[in-house]
Amino acid sequence: MIEVKKVIKSYGTADNKQTVLKGIDLTVEDGDNVVILGASGSGKSTLLNVLSGLERVDEGKIVYGDREITCLSDKELTAFRRETVGFVFQQYYLLPDMTVDKNVRMGADLAKNKDYKGIIESLGLGDKLNKYPRQLSGGEQQRVAVARALAKLPKVLFMDEPTGALDEATGRQLLDYVLKLQKERGFTLITVTHNENIAKTANTVIRLNSGKIVEITRNEAPESAYEIGW
Ligand SMILES: Nc1ncnc2c1ncn2[C@@H]1O[C@H](COP(=O)(O)OP(=O)(O)O)[C@@H](O)[C@H]1O
Ligand SMILES: [Mg+2]
Repeated sequence: MIEVKKVIKSYGTADNKQTVLKGIDLTVEDGDNVVILGASGSGKSTLLNVLSGLERVDEGKIVYGDREITCLSDKELTAFRRETVGFVFQQYYLLPDMTVDKNVRMGADLAKNKDYKGIIESLGLGDKLNKYPRQLSGGEQQRVAVARALAKLPKVLFMDEPTGALDEATGRQLLDYVLKLQKERGFTLITVTHNENIAKTANTVIRLNSGKIVEITRNEAPESAYEIGW
C-alpha cells in the first residue's frame, strides 16, 4: 500500500513561488490499476514524480508499506527507486546505441533478473532483440521502454502519458499489452494522462485540478484498451 499524507510541493523561490501540489491525501492499494486524470498543468507529472521518489516533497509524507520514503537520504532514495519502481514516459528514453536486448537487459541487471527475455517476448518484441531503437516504430519503442521498466520486476509501474506520442492504433496496442501484463503479474500500475478515455480502463480514477484531488472514483467494470473511445 502507498499512503500519501498532506503532500505539498512548490517550485520557484520566495518571490516567484508556485505551489503545484496543494495538500494531497491518497491511498493506493497493492495491485491496483490507477489512472490520474487532469488538464495540462494540473500537477499530474509532479504528483507522479513525488509518488515515485523522483522528486522530493516540501511537506507531507509518502509511505510504501511500512517504509516512509520522504525521510530517506539521497542514496537510500536511489536504492528505493531501483528496487521498487519502474517508469515509462511519453518520450521513450531508450539508449540509441544499444539493441532492444541490451536496453532491456540494463533494467534487468539492476534487479539481477536473469529472466528478462520472457518480458521482451510478452511485449511482442521477440523478433526485435537485435534491432536498434531507430529501426523500430514509435509503438515498438514504447513497448521496449515498458519491457525495460518491467525487467526490474518493480512493485509499482509509473507511466506518464505513455501513449502521448503514439497514434490511436499503436496507443491502444501499447495499453492492451500493459493492462494484460498488470493482470498477469499483479504489480501496481499508476498512469498519468489527460485522455479521459484511458481512465475507463482503470480500477481507480483520481481527478486532479490545480494541484488538488477533486474526485476519486472506483470503476466497477473497467474496459479493455479496445473497448474504450480514444
Ligand atoms: N521543474 C519545474 N520547475 C518549475 N515549475 C515546474 C516544474 N515542473 C512543473 N512545473 C510547473 O508546475 C505546474 C504543473 O506541472 P506538471 O506537474 O508538469 O503538470 P501536468 O503534468 O499536469 O501537465 C505547471 O505550471 C508547470 O509549469
Ligand atoms: Mg505532465
